[in-house]
Amino acid sequence: MPGFGVCRQLLEYIEAKGAADAQALAKALKCAPEVVVGAIKSIQTFENVINVAEVKQQLWQFTKDGQDALQKGSPEVRLMSVIPAEGIAASDLEASPVYKGLGDAAKPSIGQAMKNKWIAIDKSSGAVAYVRKVTEVPDETQKVLAQLQKDPSGKSTDDKVLKDLKKRKLVEQKSVTTYNVTKGSAFTTTLRKGEADLTADMLADGSWKSKDFKPFNLAADGVPVSRGTLHPLLKVREEYRQIFLEMGFEEMPTSRFVESSFWNFDALFQPQQHPARDAHDTFFMTAPETSASFPADYEERVKNTHENGGGYESIGYQYNWERSEAEKNLLRTHTTAVSARMLYKLAQQKPFKPVKYFSIDRVFRNETLDATHLAEFHQIEGVIADYNLTLGDLMGTLHNFFTRLGIHDLRFKPAYNPYTEPSMEVFSYHAGLDKVVEIGNSGMFRPEMLRPMGLPEDVVVIAWGLSVERPTMIKYGYSNIRDLIGPKVDLTAAQSAPLVRL
Ligand code: PHE
Repeated sequence: MPGFGVCRQLLEYIEAKGAADAQALAKALKCAPEVVVGAIKSIQTFENVINVAEVKQQLWQFTKDGQDALQKGSPEVRLMSVIPAEGIAASDLEASPVYKGLGDAAKPSIGQAMKNKWIAIDKSSGAVAYVRKVTEVPDETQKVLAQLQKDPSGKSTDDKVLKDLKKRKLVEQKSVTTYNVTKGSAFTTTLRKGEADLTADMLADGSWKSKDFKPFNLAADGVPVSRGTLHPLLKVREEYRQIFLEMGFEEMPTSRFVESSFWNFDALFQPQQHPARDAHDTFFMTAPETSASFPADYEERVKNTHENGGGYESIGYQYNWERSEAEKNLLRTHTTAVSARMLYKLAQQKPFKPVKYFSIDRVFRNETLDATHLAEFHQIEGVIADYNLTLGDLMGTLHNFFTRLGIHDLRFKPAYNPYTEPSMEVFSYHAGLDKVVEIGNSGMFRPEMLRPMGLPEDVVVIAWGLSVERPTMIKYGYSNIRDLIGPKVDLTAAQSAPLVRL
């Protein structure tokens, strides 16, 4: 905002003259037009002090060459300073500093001087030379430019002359908005800031009676309300949690990010040579490097089941199970490690009671990072343990679960997991992407996983898992996962993303 001084000078000028436009004011107050416009805007915040009319004008403005012509003389007159009466060779003229100084206007200035009949071409010596025909060269061009500077509207300059100046690229016409200022109904040269607030003191001492109050500005934007927001992923996690709770599921404790290979792999009947147990896929811990204790009798049954089927109508994997391999600590690669711990715990409670469990939390994989893969992501997992469940129960539960998410058209494809049989990948047609996309993985936990835990023979456990990130990206149109999570996330994104307000 320009100082009060400029506003005051402006008002005093208007008081004296009655009216003025912004250009005239800039000249009179000796300040830049922007400062005048700023002052006008400031004064307008006081009601009816001035009336302002916006005027669009076509004004003539000087190009760089035009400004040079105005200050140093027109190109043709400057050219004449190097052309003597006896003439000059074209090559000598072109080499002269004056000619060079004329820049783009140099060549046309020769044409102009010829047109004015100031010079003539002489070819008698074979090469081109210019000879001077007049002694005086009055600078008409500079004169009309000066005239135009005084009245940039061009009204006091001949149209043909203007056209010629424009063609010679000395001037150009620009559309300029200016303001016409006149006195308003409450005109004053002394601006007084109105009171913004009526205070208790003003009421107590009666001073409110003599104060001017600012009118209410009902069109002003409100101050943005500061508020906390859920990160999009937390928001989606909350939606899944609600769905599970509505379906009668209980949440499993998922705070254990560091897990032993035993619970992450061995308990899930994942053989110790399985490629997922390689450092290429899994982050192993250096400190603490190993876990020491597992329930002894359970460990023994797991070992036997891996080696020879443990007597559960299976022949196992037929290899020597090593405790040292099971001891290795890692960052859990799936939340099924949590499900394994919970099912083991459940199996210890007699008599068996059917349960429905869910979890939503972070898992870690040694992935090649790209637009859709990170080394950390979140998994959603649902588990139901009950007597005599069938594949139909799993498919029905998945239909129920995904319907609540607004996904109806499920397709199943046989798949393989070491711990489930049968296993099914779950797909759905996505209208937005116009293609069938994978939305989850599922299966019935194998007896080789459940029986060593001590679960009754006729108890069947169905389970499924999916990532939080993938459906979030699809649903909310994120094409790069790094816009959703990680160090490159825009910190204000959680505030401004429309989805967190739904
Ligand atoms: N653990 C599986 C995964 O990480 C998901 C899954 C959970 C599959 C439960 C079947 C049963 O992809």
